[in-house]
Amino acid sequence: MYSQGLIGADTQTDEDETFLAAFQKRIDAEEKIEPNDPMPAGYRKTLVRQISQHAHSEVVGMLPEGNWITRAPSLKRKAALLAKVQDEGGHGLYLYSAAETLGVSRDEMNAELLAGRAKYSSIFNYPTLTWADIGAIGWLVDGAAIMNQIALCRCSYGPYSRAMIRICKEESFHQRQGYEIMLVLARGTEEQKEMAQDALNRWWWPSLMMFGPSDADSAHSDQSMKWKIKRFSNDNLRQKFVNATVPQGHFLGLEFPDPGLKWNEEKQGYDFGEIDWDEFWRVVKGDGPMNRDRMATRRKDWADGEWVREAAMAYAEKRKARTQAAKIAAE
Ligand code: 3HC
Repeated sequence: MYSQGLIGADTQTDEDETFLAAFQKRIDAEEKIEPNDPMPAGYRKTLVRQISQHAHSEVVGMLPEGNWITRAPSLKRKAALLAKVQDEGGHGLYLYSAAETLGVSRDEMNAELLAGRAKYSSIFNYPTLTWADIGAIGWLVDGAAIMNQIALCRCSYGPYSRAMIRICKEESFHQRQGYEIMLVLARGTEEQKEMAQDALNRWWWPSLMMFGPSDADSAHSDQSMKWKIKRFSNDNLRQKFVNATVPQGHFLGLEFPDPGLKWNEEKQGYDFGEIDWDEFWRVVKGDGPMNRDRMATRRKDWADGEWVREAAMAYAEKRKARTQAAKIAAE
């Protein structure tokens, strides 16, 4: 899938029990693993998988929101949405850089995505039908991302955890501007309140799916938790998100599309209905409402951007040659 270990010390084989035990000792001691540290091939591989897919999600996530930049209802809303979409692009570049420290190139990561072998978050395969969707995305999707990413700030892999700290600062602005859009609509005309309710109805369950399959069906959680890439399980973060978000929705005066949602005094959290896992896996496997559009756009954008990448590389080569020539001249 990817070229292995181009950067940093030789990747140890996973069979080396002594090395694995020493590595786990570092993880258990809460040490940060850095690019040049020896690491198990499996640790490197799952980080490339997760960080590159996280980066793909950020870039693909620009598409549903970008659809509303020219349709924003005011200059203020347009400016905030422009800033948010630009942030998401920056998050993607930041995360590709973090993944590159593991010895994989950006071209390789993009080739995996465009060939359909790498994923991006299922949430971005739903259409943005009304302006209220932009509020629901900021409030729910970025809210869910924050819940997940705050935990990733404590990931054992240094470059990923540091990228998360910067990204989380910007995510909180994203979530707040989304919630403010929902507040204005929910306090607006009947039609605006209906638009906000419709958006909640369509985005609530896909937002819960962002946290991944149930713990019982999570292929990577056990090992990722052991290596402290993940600090909480999928279900645990999902529950935290529900507990934090339901009161916000009630403050808006909106109803959640889940008859099973009710406060459970004993567990001090909300019980909620069963997620439609058929829908989840259908969307993850490429058969969601917008999967084909998103991939077609990413393929076209990648092709259209080739001249920019070539020009940037040509300029970088020229600059490097000029610097070397100047160095020789100065000797
Ligand atoms: N969409 C697509 N694929 C998903 C998924 C989802 N919502 N949830 C899980 N999967 C995939 C996993 O990638 C894995 O497939 P793979 O082996 O091909 O990678 C499979 O389903 C099994 O899931 P696991 O729970 O075993 O996988 P993980 O341990 O990797 O957990 C995760 C899934 C919680 C999404 C984890 O990968 C993670 O925390 N990733 C980083 C955060 C991230 O990517 N968030 C996506 C949204 S980014 C965003 O919202 C930007 C914001 O600014 C708007």
